Amino acid sequence: MGVGAAFTTPAPTPALVSVIASAESYLHSLVILTSMLKETLEEGRKITDAALEKLLPGPDVRPASIHRAMRHSVFAGGKRIRPILCMEAGRAVAGSLPTGIEEVGAALEMLHTYSLIHDDLPALDNDDLRRGRPTCHKAFGEATAILAGDALQTQAYEVFARSQCPPEARVKIIEEIARGTGTINGMIGGQVVDLESEHKKPDQETLQYIHLSKTAALITASVVSGGLYAGGLEEQIKQLRCYGQSIGLAFQIVDDILDVTQTSEQLGKTAGKDLASEKATYPALFGLEESRKRAAELLTSACDALKTFGSRAEPLETIARFLIERKN
Ligand code: IPE
Ligand code: IPE
Ligand code: MG
Ligand code: MG
Ligand code: MG
Repeated sequence: MGVGAAFTTPAPTPALVSVIASAESYLHSLVILTSMLKETLEEGRKITDAALEKLLPGPDVRPASIHRAMRHSVFAGGKRIRPILCMEAGRAVAGSLPTGIEEVGAALEMLHTYSLIHDDLPALDNDDLRRGRPTCHKAFGEATAILAGDALQTQAYEVFARSQCPPEARVKIIEEIARGTGTINGMIGGQVVDLESEHKKPDQETLQYIHLSKTAALITASVVSGGLYAGGLEEQIKQLRCYGQSIGLAFQIVDDILDVTQTSEQLGKTAGKDLASEKATYPALFGLEESRKRAAELLTSACDALKTFGSRAEPLETIARFLIERKN
């Protein structure tokens, strides 16, 4: 008997063979999903950046100071999650990316960037770092930063008004986004209650109101707009709305978690800021473990809402997973 044979391991049992086979197939699907996610995020980011470059005034257009300030914040990086969600919702409805939808995505990113510029102002969160760069008011002064936020908002509506979908859908999209960023259950309403809740321990209902309004509302409007742009049926829009609300709330819970678990370098914004400002956050009210559990439950609800779309919604499902697992 040769030396090799002496060390031969016993033949695996059929049960072991089947466990190995299912682990292999799990790993295989994980590799496919990861590369699909990477492609979706990278392609989405490129398309969005190209549309933003086309739509935003150049840095030398008069008055140059404000155009430079707008571009400083818009082109500082950013995950481009809202445009990507809008485009993928359009794909889930239409089966392919509808022509011109990237302009709606780019306008959503303008609105989101406006909300970040204002969120960072001394009168609001008073932050110095955003997307790895000095905040807009640090780089350009407070007056220009306020106006750059305003300008990104008005520019966004000009783009929505010119978008290439049927006029009825265009009007619905404008209404949806204006509501999602407004005062009643929208972004501004959420920001108001967020500020008013500093240094207090809010109840669960108020905390959920803040997160649904300041963050989930624009994320939901982004997903719903993509569906409307692609001519989605009422039932499809309803399911996209459920998906958007679940991932939107989970997104802000994860943002709160990252604030206490990551470094400023990893985040590109000041870590530990929520604790310092005694903000109303999920980790502050429920602790990290319970916050993670809630985000995971919301991921399940989000994926359930996508069932009616079948395999067309796979990108939306992998994005939802990414939003929960992200590190910045
Ligand atoms: C940050 O949004 C503000 C929140 C609503 C939590 P993102 O995490 O999408 O920020 P960027 O766009 O990638 O910089
Ligand atoms: C901001 O929430 C939500 C917005 C409407 C911009 P945060 O204040 O937690 O966002 P970050 O952590 O500064 O990005
Ligand atoms: Mg804030
Ligand atoms: Mg902030
Ligand atoms: Mg935060």
